Amino acid sequence: MRKVRVNIKDKSGGNSYDIIIGSGVLKSFSQFYDTSKCSSVALVVDKALLNQEWYKTLLSSNDFKQSQKVKFIEISGAESVKNVDGLSYLWHEFQKSGLDRKSLVVILGGGAILDLAGFAASTYMRGVAFIHVPTTLLSQVDASIGGKLAINLGEFKNLVGSFAQPKAVIIDLETLVALPYREFVAGIAEIVKHGLIYDRKYLSLLEKTPLKQNDQERLMDIITRSCEIKSEVVSLDETEDGLRKTLNFGHTAGHALESLSKKTNYPLLHGEAISLGMLVETEISKLIGFISQDDVNLVRSVLQIQGLPVKLEFSIDLKEAHRIMLSDKKNVASKIKWSLLEKLGKATFDVEVETSVVEKAFEVI
Ligand SMILES: NC(=O)c1ccc[n+]([C@@H]2O[C@H](COP(=O)([O-])OP(=O)(O)OC[C@H]3O[C@@H](n4cnc5c(N)ncnc54)[C@H](O)[C@@H]3O)[C@@H](O)[C@H]2O)c1
Ligand SMILES: [Zn+2]
Repeated sequence: MRKVRVNIKDKSGGNSYDIIIGSGVLKSFSQFYDTSKCSSVALVVDKALLNQEWYKTLLSSNDFKQSQKVKFIEISGAESVKNVDGLSYLWHEFQKSGLDRKSLVVILGGGAILDLAGFAASTYMRGVAFIHVPTTLLSQVDASIGGKLAINLGEFKNLVGSFAQPKAVIIDLETLVALPYREFVAGIAEIVKHGLIYDRKYLSLLEKTPLKQNDQERLMDIITRSCEIKSEVVSLDETEDGLRKTLNFGHTAGHALESLSKKTNYPLLHGEAISLGMLVETEISKLIGFISQDDVNLVRSVLQIQGLPVKLEFSIDLKEAHRIMLSDKKNVASKIKWSLLEKLGKATFDVEVETSVVEKAFEVI
C-alpha cells in the first residue's frame, strides 16, 4: 500500500488529506477513515459497478453492510448525468436519506460521478464531508485529486462548480479489472501528460512498453507517481492562479477536438482527445522555438506505444475549433492562453500564440 499526502495551504491545514493506493484496500476502509464519528454514510455508486466482485466484497465489510446508518444511492455513470438534473437528483436523495452536516458521502465511480457527486456534497447544507473512490484510471490519476468539482451546463463543460477537497482519496487497483480497455488506455493520456509537464524521467518509463491493465506492480508505481505530481502541483496552487495551469497542457486543443468529435461518427473519449491535443500543443511549442522536432517525434512515439491516437479520424473546420478554444473559461479578454512545453518535463502557462501558428500546428494530427 502507498500513501501520498495532498497538502492544502489553508490556515488550519485542515483540508489536507491522504491518497491511499493499493490492491484490495477498500476492504479496510475504516483504517483510512473512521466512519464511527459520522452520523450517517451515503454511498453514491455508479450503476456500472454493482455487479463487480470487489463491490460485493465491499458491501459485506463492516463499514458498509446494510444498517440504518448506511444509505445507498445508485446513479448512472455517464457524462450525461453530470448536469443540473443529476445534481438535483442527488440533493433530493441526500435529503430523503436524512443526511446532515456530520454525514459522510463516499463516492465510487469515474470522473463524471466524482465531479457531480462531489459538487452535490460540497454544496448540500453548505458542505458535507466526502471521500473519492475513483474507479477509472483517468479518475485515479487526475479527476479524484485536487478538489475541482463541476457539472456541465448544456454544451459547456464544467461551467458550474466549486473547489472543495475530499477527506481522502482511496484508489483500489482491483476496481480497474473490469474497466473497458479503451477507457483504460484513455487514462494513460493524463499519465503521459504528467511526465511531459513535470518529470522527464517519469516520461521515460512510458517510452518503451505499454502499460497493461493487469500489471498491478507497475500500475501501483505509475499511479503513485502521477498522484504525487498532481498533488504537488495542486498543493502549490490550489485555485489555479499559476502552476496548476500547466495541468491544462493538451486540453485547449483537446477539448475542442473532443467537442467536435461528438458531432461525427468518431466520438473521442476525453483521454483520446487529450492525446491528440497534446500532440498539437507539442507542435505549437516547437513552432515557437521552445522544443525540437526530435522532441515532437518522441511525444508522438510515446503516445503511439501506449495505444493512444495520434491521427484524427475525421476532418475539422479550423475556424470552428478556434471558436471553441476561444470560449474556454481559462481565457482572459478573448485571448487564448496556452500551456506549452518549455522542454520535455517542464511546462509553462499563459502563452499567447499567433492564430496562423495554431492552424499550422493542427496539421500534425
Ligand atoms: N475534477 C477534475 O479535476 C477532473 C479532471 C479530469 C477529468 N475530469 C472529469 O472526469 C470525467 C471523465 O472521467 P472518466 O474518464 O473517469 O470517465 P467516466 O466517469 O465518464 O467513466 C467512463 C465509463 O466507465 C464506467 N466505469 C467507471 N468505472 C468503471 C469500472 N471500474 N469498471 C467498469 N466500468 C467503469 C462508467 O460507468 C462510464 O461509462 C469528465 O467529466 C471530466 O470532465 C475532472
Ligand atoms: Zn483531462
